[in-house]
Amino acid sequence: MKKEPDLINLPKHIALIMDGNGRWAKKRGLPRNMGHKAGASALEKLLKEAAKIGIENITVYAFSTENRSRPKDEIDYLMGLMSDYIDDNIAKVKSNNYRIRIIGNRDMLDKMLNDKINNLEELTKDKTGLAFNIALFYGGRDEIVRAVRKTVNEGLSEITEASFAKHLDTAMIPDPDLIIRTSGEKRLSNFLIWQSAYSEIYFSDKYWPDFNIEYLKEAILDYQNRERRFGKV
Ligand code: IPE
Ligand code: IPE
Ligand code: MG
Repeated sequence: MKKEPDLINLPKHIALIMDGNGRWAKKRGLPRNMGHKAGASALEKLLKEAAKIGIENITVYAFSTENRSRPKDEIDYLMGLMSDYIDDNIAKVKSNNYRIRIIGNRDMLDKMLNDKINNLEELTKDKTGLAFNIALFYGGRDEIVRAVRKTVNEGLSEITEASFAKHLDTAMIPDPDLIIRTSGEKRLSNFLIWQSAYSEIYFSDKYWPDFNIEYLKEAILDYQNRERRFGKV
């Protein structure tokens, strides 16, 4: 019998680097954007299942500051998916219990998308279900530089790790316990570089559109068999 993870001691926050959409599509002779479309449906399904088993916080890497160097048609397609996702969630806001936040550089977003995001965040801010965070135009280094600027502008004389972290986009979000990257790549690619200091990292060979709740449970089980020492003996 396959072992199941212990649902009492789940990681409080799981962060997902959703990689491999392009290769998923290529393997099927489809254009890359069809991989992104399949990836968006995979995410939608996974969130429902993850909320059901009791995961409290999920952060996904949707678009990095470096992804701005991709072809314009691909960027436009991804922003279209994002915009549809937000519209859909605004429409479903009464029946849905997700609290949705977007992290990343708002100055890099177009105004219409920014307005929609602000609206969705406002509409879901008191929801008590899954806290779902989307990293969009997000780069860990960019986030740190923006936080440094805010700190300097405040003119505080004493800066601590805690006071600094309050200026990060993730100020209200606990650090991820578990970071999962799909598609076999073994790097963070500028994702949550401050917050991942003591995260457990799990790599899956699956392409993102194929990643489902069973694979997530495997990752959680692997996580539960690790010993987190945080520098202690
Ligand atoms: C992840 O899939 C989605 C984004 C980075 C937006 P990719 O588009 O990176 O897919 P691969 O890595 O080319 O297969
Ligand atoms: C990381 O994937 C970014 C997202 C999943 C949004 P990339 O495909 O952009 O990363 P690299 O270029 O392989 O490091
Ligand atoms: Mg990739």
